[in-house]
Amino acid sequence: MRTKDKVLITGASTGIGALYADRFAKRGHDLVLVARDGAKLATLADRLSRETGVTVEVLAADLTNAIERGKVEDKLAQDKAIAILVNNAGTILPGEFLEQTPNDVERLIALNVTAPTRLTAVVAPRLAAQGHGAIINIASILGLTPEFGYAVYGATKAFVTFFSQSLNKTLGDKGVYVQAVLPAATRTEIWDKGGIDVNTVPGVMAVEDLVDAALVGFDRHEAVTIPPLQNESEWLSYDAARKAMLGSFQQAKPAPRYTENK
Ligand SMILES: NC(=O)c1ccc[n+]([C@@H]2O[C@H](COP(=O)([O-])OP(=O)(O)OC[C@H]3O[C@@H](n4cnc5c(N)ncnc54)[C@H](OP(=O)(O)O)[C@@H]3O)[C@@H](O)[C@H]2O)c1
Repeated sequence: MRTKDKVLITGASTGIGALYADRFAKRGHDLVLVARDGAKLATLADRLSRETGVTVEVLAADLTNAIERGKVEDKLAQDKAIAILVNNAGTILPGEFLEQTPNDVERLIALNVTAPTRLTAVVAPRLAAQGHGAIINIASILGLTPEFGYAVYGATKAFVTFFSQSLNKTLGDKGVYVQAVLPAATRTEIWDKGGIDVNTVPGVMAVEDLVDAALVGFDRHEAVTIPPLQNESEWLSYDAARKAMLGSFQQAKPAPRYTENK
């Protein structure tokens, strides 16, 4: 019988990542916890191993730093027991795009896009060769809502959703399940980091509710899980409208609206 897969979770020191750690430990999975704050990770690791008996390793690393991120990549490449990767570490920037510096947005992209993409690129070939495993990518509904104005953050999350959906198909054929989770507002420290008082935001979900719902989607092998969306048919019709265009893109000639009355 297969022992339970070891799970590597990024951004596990607080918020959604810490809850994933709690829930996977309670399911009996050994863990590797990654974030910058090694002391917080160690406290969580102690509690989880004491309460559940699983083995919890801690890997303190700044995922925007290539050398430190490299330690996580080495762990994913070398520890063959890790068969579930949770790409959760992420942050938001305060202010509007015009107030953000090029360095700010580059760091945001490094954490929200480059890190999950590289970690996935390291682990996916091994999981595909094993014919077993899963990758959970934490995106956001802000990746679907350019109207809300989080230009770069939303774009990073649109990337994560697209990347996950595409891999769900290619890796799915090889026995590796990929899930995109799209939370809406969830009560964590991220709001302080974005300079927003969470108490002014309507409809904020408790982090326990978010992660427990996302894990229901995980157990069902959903490609995209949107815990706050009450009416699933809204997502299904949105996705169907996109798919309806697929056959229309391959045209040698531009559409008449671009060629008539020039
Ligand atoms: N909360 C929401 O409303 C919401 C909504 C949609 C999507 N999300 C997404 O959910 C994910 C988790 O966010 P959260 O709400 O739980 O936020 P959070 O409470 O601020 O936690 C973020 C986690 O990422 C880690 N992290 C931040 N920068 C890092 C870096 N440079 N290197 C390594 N780890 C780093 C933090 O740990 P250290 O500080 O110790 O490094 C922490 O463990 C993010 O991807 C976020 O975009 C959140």
